[in-house]
Amino acid sequence: MSDNNPRLEGPLPPAALDDPHLQPATKNPDRMQALAALAIVIGMAGFIGFIWVYWINASTQWEAAMLTVGMAGLGIGTIAWGKYLMPQGPFVEERHDFHSTDDERTAFNAAITGRGGLEVKRRGLLLSLFAVGGGIMTLALVVPGIGSLGPKPAKSEDPHGSTDESLFTTNWRKGSKLVTVDGRQVQVDDLNLGGVLTVFPQGYEGSSPDQVILIRLAMLGPGDPPYPIAPPGHTEWGVQGYVAYSKLCTHLGCPVGLYQEQTQQLVCPCHQSIFNVNSGAVPEFGPAPRPLPQLPITVDATGQMRANGNFDQAVGPGFWERP
Ligand code: FES
Repeated sequence: MSDNNPRLEGPLPPAALDDPHLQPATKNPDRMQALAALAIVIGMAGFIGFIWVYWINASTQWEAAMLTVGMAGLGIGTIAWGKYLMPQGPFVEERHDFHSTDDERTAFNAAITGRGGLEVKRRGLLLSLFAVGGGIMTLALVVPGIGSLGPKPAKSEDPHGSTDESLFTTNWRKGSKLVTVDGRQVQVDDLNLGGVLTVFPQGYEGSSPDQVILIRLAMLGPGDPPYPIAPPGHTEWGVQGYVAYSKLCTHLGCPVGLYQEQTQQLVCPCHQSIFNVNSGAVPEFGPAPRPLPQLPITVDATGQMRANGNFDQAVGPGFWERP
C-alpha cells in the first residue's frame, strides 16, 4: 500500500507567535471580546432574572423567557469566544516518526507554552466572566430544585394547627361547616340516596388537601340508629346515612371522584384503585396502599352539616417521614 504523506526527516519547526494561523479569526479581537463579554453579562442577567421570577412565583412563561436569555447569552458568548478569538488555524501536522527527538519535544513545549500564555493573558476578562456566569447558572438550577422540594412535614398535634407547610394536618376542625366549592353551606337534606358532593371546610373552598367526598348511603333520620360501617368504632363518624372521606387518593393523590352507587365503591380515575365505602374506604383493587381517611361529621340543630373533628391520619399519598 502506497503512502503519499511525506514524512518529516528532521525535528518539527517551532511555532512562531506571529504565524497567521495562530491569530484570531476576527480582524478586530478587542471588539469581539467586548461583544462576547456583553453576551455573557446578558446571560448572567437572564439567570438572575430567572431566580427572581421563580422566587416571586411569577408565571412559567416568565421563567422560560429568563432561562432562554440566560442560556442564549452564555452560549453566544462562549461560541463567539471559541470561534472568533481563538487561533484560527487550520493546523496541519505532517506525519513523522512516532519517536520524537529531544529537539522536537523542546520545540513543542515552547510552542504550547508560548501560545497558552498569550491566550490566557489576553482573555482574562472573558475567563472571569465565564466563571461568574457559570456560577450564576448553577445557582439558577439549584434554587428551583431546592425550592420545589415541597412542604415540610409538621406534627398533627402541632399547637398552631395546620399550615400550608403541613403534610400531616388539614384545615378541618371540630365544628367546621361543610360547604361546596362556591361556598354554599351543605344541609342535611341536600342529598338523596346515592348522592355525592365534594365539600370543603368553610373558609378553605377549593383547597386541595381539604377536599372531601360526602356520600349518602342511606336515608336515615335523626332518631334512627347510625348506618353501620367498618372499621369498628367509625360507625359514629357518619350521620343520618352520610359518610365523608378524604378525596385524595392514597396512591398518588388524584381526586377520587367516581362513585358507583350499586356496589358502593369509589374509583380513582388515575390508576383505577377501588375503595369500598361500606368497609371504611379500604382499597379492594389497584395500587392504593391504604384506605381513604374518614372525616367524622355531624348535623347541628339547624340542619347544617359540620365536621366532628379532623382526620385521624394524614391524607393523600405516603411520604418519607410518614410512620
Ligand atoms: Fe389513585 Fe393512582 S392516584 S390509583
